[in-house]
Amino acid sequence: MPSPAQSEAVPATPVHYARRGRVGVITVDNPPVNALGHGVRSGLAAALAAGLDDAESDMLLLVCTGRTFMAGADIREFGKPSAPPTLPELVARFDAATKPVIAVLHGSALGGGLELALACHVRVALTGARLGLPEVKLGLLPGAGGTQRLPRLVGAAKALDLILSGEPVGAEEALALGLVDAVEERGSPLEAGLCAAGRLAAEKRTPLPVSARNDRIAETDPALFIERRAELARRLPHLVSPHRIVDAVEAAVTLPFADGMARERALFRDCMDSPQRAGLIHAFFAEREVAKVPGLPAGTPTRDIREAGVVGAGTMGGGIAMCFANAGIPVTLLDLSQEALDRGIATIRRSYEASAGKGRLTLAQVGERMALIRPTLSHGDLAGADLVVEAAFESMAVKQAVFRKLDGVCKPGAILATNSSTLDVDAIAAATGRPQDVLGLHFFSPATIMRLLEVVRGAQTSDIVLATAMALARRIGKVGVAVGVCDGFVGNRILRQRGREAMALVEAGASPEQVDRVLTGFGFPLGHFAMTDLAGIDVGWRIREERRTAGDPEAEAPDWLDVLAERGRYGQKTGAGVYRYEPGSRKPLPDPELAALIAADRSRRGIAPRLVGDDEVRDRCLYVMVNEAAKILEEGIAARPVDIDAIWLHGYGFPSWRGGLLFWAEREGLGRIATAVQRYQRDIGGPQWCPSALLLKCAAAGRPIGC
Ligand code: CAA
Repeated sequence: MPSPAQSEAVPATPVHYARRGRVGVITVDNPPVNALGHGVRSGLAAALAAGLDDAESDMLLLVCTGRTFMAGADIREFGKPSAPPTLPELVARFDAATKPVIAVLHGSALGGGLELALACHVRVALTGARLGLPEVKLGLLPGAGGTQRLPRLVGAAKALDLILSGEPVGAEEALALGLVDAVEERGSPLEAGLCAAGRLAAEKRTPLPVSARNDRIAETDPALFIERRAELARRLPHLVSPHRIVDAVEAAVTLPFADGMARERALFRDCMDSPQRAGLIHAFFAEREVAKVPGLPAGTPTRDIREAGVVGAGTMGGGIAMCFANAGIPVTLLDLSQEALDRGIATIRRSYEASAGKGRLTLAQVGERMALIRPTLSHGDLAGADLVVEAAFESMAVKQAVFRKLDGVCKPGAILATNSSTLDVDAIAAATGRPQDVLGLHFFSPATIMRLLEVVRGAQTSDIVLATAMALARRIGKVGVAVGVCDGFVGNRILRQRGREAMALVEAGASPEQVDRVLTGFGFPLGHFAMTDLAGIDVGWRIREERRTAGDPEAEAPDWLDVLAERGRYGQKTGAGVYRYEPGSRKPLPDPELAALIAADRSRRGIAPRLVGDDEVRDRCLYVMVNEAAKILEEGIAARPVDIDAIWLHGYGFPSWRGGLLFWAEREGLGRIATAVQRYQRDIGGPQWCPSALLLKCAAAGRPIGC
């Protein structure tokens, strides 16, 4: 670090010190997000020392260049030994600074970045800044004093809300909470900081460090912690870090600051050592990794999507139209009958109004979004769309007819996408004269909520079209994962095999409730059969019927699930499916009628039910998924294990703290899984247990899958 007099000479460090008048300015410049890696930490320590030694400065300013303040610790360093100064050491040095330090927050001030700011004497946020402690999402707790300082600023209850949710707050809310001292509407971080420095100089006072303030925590009711623990035990029994967070915040209000810090450190280490941390961090990077499609050159040009179209105003089509409107993209929604269109628009309006009722949207926003959705009965109105998503009935003949029509009316260069979940995208593309502009965009229901978007690349889909679809996914807030063409693509293809196995387990003697209990115990939000009820038993039934009619050799034999569908028990929407539902409730209740149906099905097949252990249910349901995932990799339908992980994380509720299906499989042991798959092939049989050659090969070689 140069002396202040030479501070124009920029050293080879991501942190610089310079003086503006009598204000020492510490600037962090570490793109893309100014993460607090080792270089930044040591640069900050040196810059702080230089500023404190600088006789010409009365106070210090901490600012960042680029799009954001520090977005946290450098996550890539986790799990490796931390080189000094560690983040807590650095934060302690700022806390003990003998000159006032003002932090100016813009963009995202997250995690360790916000913790550092909390150790400064004054915090100023620029309008638009987002402040948060998202460590819980990575299986951690704020380990650099965040759990001790935040309650001192905003009170223990609010601190728990913020740290347990991991969700950021905006600058205005941060001001109202007392998290920042001022919000600046204009200017750069440096300009805003210099204004704040001027104000502080005029006040002629040195604010107390947050660590020395106790007024907001003095009267904390101990019942707060009892209530939060009870709530977590109910809501998040699997997760380690939320429980440790409550312990840490409780320490902030019951122990002196230094002891609270020591307690936080010990609890942080517990979280850091937990396998959940590794899983959640894998999930964090997986979400970003899937955006980089192998074989698609970075910088591939994309087409502008200024206007979209959706064909089909049913549940899926309406939801997809909302995804566009939510991102500010005008969308034309087409259906064939006025009645269907009116129904679709009414459903959309109800859904937006429900969001407004919950305070998630203002009425003005409801109006703006509705205004972006233009209903029509005329295909001609799709002529201006840059991209059209077809969400019509799941039948090849219907889809081909729709695409033929779209090809005729849509402008050259418009991208035509199908939301099919099973059909051959290439056969659909063949109905057009522009197969290079056709692909699948497989949304998941409910489309506005589920983050997964399978981007299905057909044999002739061009790079530009694929790159455009991946960019669009990000723009509408989805996790786009590129996949190849096959029946069910990646997600549903794996689900199908799990479904086969869940049915086989019930046939052998397990109950649907047992299968579901084991899966929710593993961490899925819903068991297989509860999910079937949610999705609608009729949906799978129609697909199975179509496969049987088409003579598919792997089609499932008719079973008790088909009988349920024949009886109109479609699941939640009809109040009964595998489970029964009280009116207005989504809680699955066991149904004696179903037990009788299953018993009859077993006796028809001559099966004497046996006791099936929970371990067997777990292994069979999960290993069958891993085996199918390996086949998908082998065939190149998914390019990398991380793609499959992201698909199951964002589309099917695979527990994020387990990292993803294949990340989990590595930890479970590929050797163990491969041996079991071969055993099940021998003992149970069925296409689902035909072992993947790739799985066997990787297990035998003791190397990770896909490498
Ligand atoms: N460490 C390392 N790399 C990070 C990072 C971090 N904290 N945050 C983001 N990045 C990387 C991303 O991986 C991505 O890299 P690639 O371009 O190579 O894929 C790049 O920065 C840009 O990130 P995004 O694509 O996510 O950009 P965005 O603009 O959509 O979002 C963001 C920016 C809101 C900051 C988002 O990246 C984010 O939420 N980051 C994580 C923040 C976080 O969790 N911080 C807490 C870390 S734990 C901690 O700080 C405390 C502790 O005590 C351990």
